[in-house]
Amino acid sequence: MNFIQHREALFSKMTENSLAVIPSADIHLRNRDADFPFRQSSDFFYLTGFTEDSACLVLQKKAGACQSVLFCQAKVKEMEIWTGYRLGPDAAVDQLGLTDAFNIDELAVKLPTLMADCDQVYAAWGADKAWDARLIESIEKVKLKARTGVQAPTAMQAIEPLLHELRLIKDDAEIDIMAKAADISAHAHMAAMKQVKPGMFEYQLEGTIRHYCADQGSRFDAYTSIVGSGENACILHYTHNDQEIKEGDLILIDAGCEVNHYASDITRTFPANGRFSTEQKALYELVLQAQFAAIEAVKPGNDFNQPHEVVLQILTQGLVDLGLLNGDVDELIKNEAYKPFYMHRTSHWLGMDVHDVGAYKIDGQWRELQAGMVLTIEPGLYIAPDDDSVDVKWRGIGIRIEDDVLVTQEGHRVLSARVPKTVEEIERLMAEA
Ligand code: GLY
Ligand code: MN
Ligand code: MN
Repeated sequence: MNFIQHREALFSKMTENSLAVIPSADIHLRNRDADFPFRQSSDFFYLTGFTEDSACLVLQKKAGACQSVLFCQAKVKEMEIWTGYRLGPDAAVDQLGLTDAFNIDELAVKLPTLMADCDQVYAAWGADKAWDARLIESIEKVKLKARTGVQAPTAMQAIEPLLHELRLIKDDAEIDIMAKAADISAHAHMAAMKQVKPGMFEYQLEGTIRHYCADQGSRFDAYTSIVGSGENACILHYTHNDQEIKEGDLILIDAGCEVNHYASDITRTFPANGRFSTEQKALYELVLQAQFAAIEAVKPGNDFNQPHEVVLQILTQGLVDLGLLNGDVDELIKNEAYKPFYMHRTSHWLGMDVHDVGAYKIDGQWRELQAGMVLTIEPGLYIAPDDDSVDVKWRGIGIRIEDDVLVTQEGHRVLSARVPKTVEEIERLMAEA
């Protein structure tokens, strides 16, 4: 990936005489002396390709020149023995194509100098109190030097509208990585379908997914896997994954790996014993019909909400046909009568973050899809186990089908297409296993 190009694109959006400050992620404690696995900030990685913590990128656009300055951990042999290799400021300049690099301990002293005579400071203001305080302290230090003739910045600008619009449109290198992540995850879902047996625990399937993804070159999951069997499939963000899978259960797996900081996000729902029951199949095929139709609505010129509207129409009509809802379909949609069974939206942007950045509306209107955007299409139906408004035979069935869809000039490309999703395909794959 071309991180220098990413910086150049951001510079071209910054105003003359401005400064942007983009910190790395921090390490977070899991329990005494044990940290959570470190994940770099997506914004910071997008602009640097640098994977260490305790770092900060400062971009200065002043007097017609653009300077990229990195602050990072010094190379200290004693520390490297404990926590591993550090690039260090000297090597960082060449390796990352920077103007300059310094020890992170120098940031407090150097930042006011970099800020002097800049009109505005772009940052993720409000995202992190400690960084807000650091930046304001720097602005105050510049103000204290006013008598020497320097001017302090007069405006704090949100960096997100600039940087996140860039991240929303993926270039060819990013698309290749996302296609790889989706393909690995697709095969991992197939491995889970082949291995499942009643009597296994949900976390064993979670393990199957992680093992397969690691085997194919993915170091981390993009998010905590959801492996919900039976009624657990009705819990949207179920991550306990600790129950025994029973004969007759459907299993909903929402899992995706990350490759080089880019996410995939796939959901499949399949029967533990390899055969859908009549009710499971009826609801499954309804969700599938909605999903196919919503994917067809992904094309340049259509807006972000159109796939969701397609899903609401098909699911509501289908729920009436199956007797789970009664009434006029348009009225039911207007009154959101589908919400007890379908309570989430159909799509979100996908990229370095699983719920990726980028505005969904422009001037209050759903934005048009354009080539290079990647979004999920993930309709579902969830019939609560205690919903006595429906026949008992439907209760406790939870289904979601989710794919990752790239908008292309011609229409779309489903990056996660390899994993089966029709009833026949799934039953055939499971029967072969
Ligand atoms: N896996 C998170 C989501 O589907 O939005
Ligand atoms: Mn999703
Ligand atoms: Mn998902």
